[in-house]
Amino acid sequence: MPEKAHVQEPAGKLGILLPGMGAVATTFVAGVEAARRGLGMPIGSLTQMGTIRLGKRSDKRSPMIKDFITLAKLEDIEFAGWDIFEDDCYEAACKAGVLERAHLDPMKDMLKSIKPMPAVFDKRYVKKLSGPNVKKGATWYDLAQQLKDDMQRVKEEKKCRRMVAVWCGSTEIYLEKKPVHETIEAFEAGLKKNDPSISPSMVYAYAAISSGIPYANGAPHLCVDTPALVQLAREKKVPLSGKDFKTGQTLMKTIIAPGLKARLIGLNGWFSTNILGNRDGEVLDDPESFKSKEVSKLSVLDSILQPHLYPELYKDFYHKVRINYYPPRGDNKESWDNLDIFGWLGYPMQIKINFLCRDSILAAPIVLDLALLMDFSQRAGLYGIQEWLSFYYKSPMCAPELYPEHDLYIQLMKLKNNLRHLMGEELITHLGVAAKKTPFVVLEGGVWREAPPHGPHSS
Ligand SMILES: NC(=O)c1ccc[n+]([C@@H]2O[C@H](COP(=O)([O-])OP(=O)(O)OC[C@H]3O[C@@H](n4cnc5c(N)ncnc54)[C@H](O)[C@@H]3O)[C@@H](O)[C@H]2O)c1
Repeated sequence: MPEKAHVQEPAGKLGILLPGMGAVATTFVAGVEAARRGLGMPIGSLTQMGTIRLGKRSDKRSPMIKDFITLAKLEDIEFAGWDIFEDDCYEAACKAGVLERAHLDPMKDMLKSIKPMPAVFDKRYVKKLSGPNVKKGATWYDLAQQLKDDMQRVKEEKKCRRMVAVWCGSTEIYLEKKPVHETIEAFEAGLKKNDPSISPSMVYAYAAISSGIPYANGAPHLCVDTPALVQLAREKKVPLSGKDFKTGQTLMKTIIAPGLKARLIGLNGWFSTNILGNRDGEVLDDPESFKSKEVSKLSVLDSILQPHLYPELYKDFYHKVRINYYPPRGDNKESWDNLDIFGWLGYPMQIKINFLCRDSILAAPIVLDLALLMDFSQRAGLYGIQEWLSFYYKSPMCAPELYPEHDLYIQLMKLKNNLRHLMGEELITHLGVAAKKTPFVVLEGGVWREAPPHGPHSS
């Protein structure tokens, strides 16, 4: 048997910090509370409903993931967040219109008790929004200190032993990596000089990481995906993950594309269009915020289909993604996909997908799983980019020498094998033989590497 990692027990309360308390965040909070009260099931959450096979198939060992690893219990979670609007969690959930009043009203008192703290916000980075609940400070650095004070206060007031932050705020404009993002020294100098290449989400991330709080980025913008913040996370031994929750149309893409590739079916083009009418849709109506989303959505197919390995099948396929803001639909997005594919002797075929989804209903379980698994990572001594959590992201962060893994099935295998590895179980390779190399594999910041001979947790 491989060696089991030391994972600290999840003693005491876990505080989940939510920068941005709109549709996703309020659906998440209300859903956790509903599950705690037995008013609904946390459907879509791997940590709450998933199982993990251990050992040989004939062993018939498939415990629930939450029984296999030590996770914070839903009862032990506390919530806090920031928003540019003053609405408490109940009012914000009513305005988001995802969950019905019949669902929200029994939990009204609890939801009303969660009031957003004033946000770090700047309209230059989210052009379509403005709101009154915003902090004042001379520099990004001062604002980061205010956020750190908020985090410390929440921890004390809610008596939390540990905290994690999951960005559920709006998508900011597309920013390129600049020298200010290269090292933490340059970044801190930039915070003090109000460098315009630093955006509010980076200020939250900086405040969290430097307070020792794991940070997950649910939006497609740059934020923690910079050498500077990765460096800080490594120095502070804090786990990071991102970017952009994998829901809706992109989730479907990463389910279908691996199947086409597995059967060597060619692709001439994939056209994706959406209508959505929530606040997220309004923000994405701005071309600069949309650019962040577009880059995230477009990266998926290339990495799954590997045109460089299969030029006859996938070279030069046309891929287009459109998002249209259409207020009458609210959060109930509708997407259409047209795939022009080809098979035997090049004969063309088509697939049409019409997905009537609810964005925040798909995103809420991701927020829960990320919060619990990022906390687990920290207790297991993992830090830096948690690539094994790629399963949850449209545009997974990975080490610079690697390429991101987008295939949902490979991502799931990676996630489960990571848990098996940490818990001292054999990896499952589907060869019928568990990976013999297990003891010689090391996870550093979620990245698998060959370990030096002195054991799996030396880095
Ligand atoms: N819903 C999904 O399926 C899904 C999928 C992938 C990614 N996302 C991303 O998740 C994020 C949240 O989505 P949503 O549907 O809840 O959007 P939303 O517009 O309903 O909520 C975002 C909230 O963030 C607030 N906000 C903006 N900037 C802020 C700041 N600097 N500090 C604090 N609060 C700030 C806004 O006021 C708003 O209330 C978006 O970035 C979206 O792109 C959502």
